Amino acid sequence: MSAPTAERSLVLVKPDGVARGLVGQVVARLEAKGLRLVAAELRTLTVEVAEEHYGEHRERPFFGSLVEFITSGPLLALVVEGPRAIEAFRALAGATDPVKAAPGTIRGDFALEVQNNIVHGSDSPESAAREIALFFPGLG
Ligand code: PPS
Repeated sequence: MSAPTAERSLVLVKPDGVARGLVGQVVARLEAKGLRLVAAELRTLTVEVAEEHYGEHRERPFFGSLVEFITSGPLLALVVEGPRAIEAFRALAGATDPVKAAPGTIRGDFALEVQNNIVHGSDSPESAAREIALFFPGLG
């Protein structure tokens, strides 16, 4: 069998995760899993970037609240790399609704609310390419 191809994913430690001091635990978990950090930057998103990032949810009732939340303070944007990195990080993150997320996952261990759920991870190769280009346009 040939070696698995490395894949990249955009990971965000959202403003709630940064404010609660959970950056170290999130990074420790993904590095322990074997995902490699390719880029990292602490920044506060503009409304324009936030609306583009969550553009596919524009028609959903929570869109305004989600944009307000994600722009409310600094977040840590990361690009991680590894075999099946997208699926690997989403497994570490747990279900979007933290109440349903399994204990042992990031959301299962640290969150209770579907909006303030600590982390974001790209959900497909297409999303990852779009999100990485939005956050880190200089990355090849
Ligand atoms: S998923 O995993 O993409 O299928 O999840 P989805 O339910 O589509 O949610 C997408 C993002 O929207 C956020 N979300 C919400 N925010 C506020 N209020 C409500 N009710 C709500 N439901 C979902 C959720 O945290 C997801 O954010 P990201 O950053 O993509 O994980």
